[in-house]
Amino acid sequence: MKNAHELVEKNVGLLTILMMVAISLGGMAQITPLMFQQQTMTPVDGLKPYTALQMEGRDIFIREGCVGCHSQMIRPFRSETERYGHYSVAGESVWEHPFLWGSKRTGPDLARVGGRYSDEWHKVHLINPRNVVPESNMPGFPWLVKNTLDGELTAKKLSVFRDFGVPYTDEDIAGAQAAVKGKTEMEALIAYLQSLGTALK
Ligand code: HEC
Repeated sequence: MKNAHELVEKNVGLLTILMMVAISLGGMAQITPLMFQQQTMTPVDGLKPYTALQMEGRDIFIREGCVGCHSQMIRPFRSETERYGHYSVAGESVWEHPFLWGSKRTGPDLARVGGRYSDEWHKVHLINPRNVVPESNMPGFPWLVKNTLDGELTAKKLSVFRDFGVPYTDEDIAGAQAAVKGKTEMEALIAYLQSLGTALK
């Protein structure tokens, strides 16, 4: 037995392989059970699929890199729940593809920002944050009011999400383009922001 240990310690290649096996097993032991737990797969009561406009807003959120400064994950600590509201639960994220939990918080967490400000506040803030928060170092996104949506891909996006298990109806998909066409990117992004975290009350 003593010799076997020495063999591993003196052989870097073997040590690396055995370390990888050990870490993979540990990782699998943590992650695999979550894939079969009802609680992590069942949507919370009141969770609604994104409307066509919110779906476009979500894509703008991704495109503009908002997730690089804003998390959408309230941790179950008092310091977090006092500031942001109820901690995030798995059932709120089951229809997120990909999820936007993030990890960098240059700005506040946005998991429950829906309803916290008026649409008008968001618009002013997104054009130039300094107009409402003088000390803000968030960049402005003034082009969002100028760019309009043509909605050519919106129906496709909804139907891909339906393939992932999000309960969109045929009518949702058929009406998707008409629902967003001509709207500005600003309207879409604000519609998305106002929906965040509102399912769990
Ligand atoms: C460089 C980092 C950075 C980026 C990128 C960024 N933000 Fe921010 N954001 C901040 C900071 C810092 C604050 C806090 C100051 C303020 O309110 O402006 C903030 C605040 C906010 C708030 C107010 C949150 C609250 O609870 O008060 C919202 C909403 C918001 N950002 C949305 C966005 C959206 C949408 C995008 C992408 C279009 C974005 N941010 C991109 C840094 C960033």
